[in-house]
Amino acid sequence: MSNQIKRPKGTQDILPSEAAKWRTVEDAVREAAEQFGFREIRTPDFEETGLYVRSAGATSDVVTKEMYTVSSTGDSSFTLRPEGTAGVVRAMLENGLMNEGFPQKVYYLAQCYRHEKPQAGRYREFKQFGVEMFGTQSPYADAEIILLASTVLERCGLENVTLHINSIGCPECRAKYREALRSFFLPHVEELCPTCRERLDKNPMRLLDCKSPICKGIAAGAPLITNYLCDGCREHFDALKEILTEYGVEFTVDPKIVRGLDYYTKTVFEFISQDIGSQGTVCGGGRYDGLVSELGGQQVPALGFGLGLERLIMTMEAAGVEFEPAKTCDLYIAPMGAEAQKKSALLADAVRRAGYAAETDLVGRGIKPQMRYADKIKAKFVCVIGDNELSCGEAKLKNMATGEETPVKLEEFMTGFSNLMLNEIFDGELGETIGRLVEGLEPAEEQPEG
Ligand code: HAM
Repeated sequence: MSNQIKRPKGTQDILPSEAAKWRTVEDAVREAAEQFGFREIRTPDFEETGLYVRSAGATSDVVTKEMYTVSSTGDSSFTLRPEGTAGVVRAMLENGLMNEGFPQKVYYLAQCYRHEKPQAGRYREFKQFGVEMFGTQSPYADAEIILLASTVLERCGLENVTLHINSIGCPECRAKYREALRSFFLPHVEELCPTCRERLDKNPMRLLDCKSPICKGIAAGAPLITNYLCDGCREHFDALKEILTEYGVEFTVDPKIVRGLDYYTKTVFEFISQDIGSQGTVCGGGRYDGLVSELGGQQVPALGFGLGLERLIMTMEAAGVEFEPAKTCDLYIAPMGAEAQKKSALLADAVRRAGYAAETDLVGRGIKPQMRYADKIKAKFVCVIGDNELSCGEAKLKNMATGEETPVKLEEFMTGFSNLMLNEIFDGELGETIGRLVEGLEPAEEQPEG
């Protein structure tokens, strides 16, 4: 054990017993995104370092402390994706998608890497479901993005994740607000933590985000951005609040939300869970109307969000949401002897081609351990094939839930097995649904005789 290599700190192994949960949430987020008209985009796991410096901001935590940067040959420097937005904007520009008409709507499921101090809900490798929308100023777009995140959370069975929104204005209103913040914090400079002292000059809004109790105490009395919004930004924010109210999406206005990445303008929002500890922000996003031009494109308004799948699953577990079990084996064929093994392999292959999951023995085990294995993999049906079955050309399919055995001719094996599976399906939930539908149908009008 001692000389075994361990997984890196802040990463996770997702074992087969857990993978079904991931598939469930990945399927749910994909389905919701596609229903809202977003199309999938996949971008590289690493990009030129400059892309993240220009987008996240040179003073952001991501850039100053958290990037996994590798320098390869020559002068090039690459960084593992710390977040999804920058790479998507680069790809949209590089592939001309911004010229294909607006709005452009894309989504992604992407591994992200940040060199943070690991703790519950905070990893060095994590997975984001993100969406980005380009080419619209409308507050309806902000509302739609928020509605999508809220739909995802609702479909994942979460009710206690609260939405917090704010507007951090455009560069003009923000310049005035920054000045106000500087003047407010300056008399307290000696009391501030070293990071905040450093940030006071370059990025005073980040002081509102500091977790140190002393800085937090001082920031409690700081001026609020909501009092510095220009008319345009205020109208946009008011319209968003009105639309969310119309949609029935509950929210709290929190003027202290500033977000950790520098590209945001106007709307910012977070969905926060109280059930998973201090790293409770399950989803965060907002508008970034200046980023596309910052990265070399035209002035294109844009917005989106990132939702951390680890935190989503943690919140679902904390809420007691039941996940669907992993797909189990439909048929286990237990061969006894070399001839039977050959036949079993062929039958398993035919069953899989018909769309079912099938396994047979690959280890050369006796019948008892094979039956234990069939139990362990929760096979729905088991079929034993030995010399007897081969010579009489017939075997029994045993339903493991009921113990019922049905004889099938080996020559007609697929028909026999398919019939049993269909019975299972129709006796189950699908059968009930069809039964209800059929009952609901009006009886056909009788034709008069003659
Ligand atoms: P972000 O707030 O940095 O925003 O991250 C979005 C989400 O990713 C967080 O709410 C959280 O669920 C998850 N997350 C972030 N860091 C970690 C971590 N170390 N461990 C586990 N989960 C984490 C963005 O990344 C923006 N790109 C979102 C966006 C898209 N804004 C506009 N478009």
